[in-house]
Amino acid sequence: MGRVYVLDHPLIQHKLTLIRDRRTGPKEFRELLEEVAMLMAYEITRDLPLEETVVETPVAPAKAKVLAGRKLGVIPILRAGLGMVEGVLKLIPAAKVGHIGLYRDPETLRPVEYYCKLPTDVEERELIVIDPMLATGGSAAAAIDFLKERGARQIKLMCLIAAPEGIGRVRERHPDVDLYTAAVDERLNDHGYIVPGLGDAGDRLYGTK
Ligand code: PRP
Ligand code: URA
Repeated sequence: MGRVYVLDHPLIQHKLTLIRDRRTGPKEFRELLEEVAMLMAYEITRDLPLEETVVETPVAPAKAKVLAGRKLGVIPILRAGLGMVEGVLKLIPAAKVGHIGLYRDPETLRPVEYYCKLPTDVEERELIVIDPMLATGGSAAAAIDFLKERGARQIKLMCLIAAPEGIGRVRERHPDVDLYTAAVDERLNDHGYIVPGLGDAGDRLYGTK
């Protein structure tokens, strides 16, 4: 069964509080989301394999370690996932980026696909799906379905705030996927918004609405 990691690093928690604050405008919201995504990527990549190498320092050769060249991919779910991409790429600049466009139908709350462009070798990559909000879990579960249909096997899900309902859905549909979040909130309201959450992530990022 996939594990759920709540990333409780103080810097992540502090920035999350600022992001939640209704007074935080789009410019600050974007900056904070990018920063928090970078910190989360640092935690998520803890298990990347290393290999031994030798590097010449100005003094002597040193036995040292480098990343063992695992191929990575970052998959933002549009739109709000875009706000986390640059932060993740700051730490893993060689990762390829695939985009999955989904919006949630406001009536049914079911995800509707409108775009999908992935790296061609997605089946060889370890993928990190990113989206700030895991509410019903419909969007994340559908994005992971697309990736698996195209052969992807190693997938992690990173979101800023998760609702218990979303965690349940992803674990049920994709028990092989580990989930990383900065917070597990109380519940969903009647409109499918996370309570207390942060509101509509896409609208707050881009100043729409
Ligand atoms: C938001 C969010 C997730 C989805 C979460 O996107 O960014 O993708 O809702 O809800 P779910 O877990 O119930 O599927 P939204 O559909 O609002 O689109 P946007 O990012 O383009 O604003
Ligand atoms: N999408 C959002 O942007 N916010 C929520 O609370 C739920 C879904």
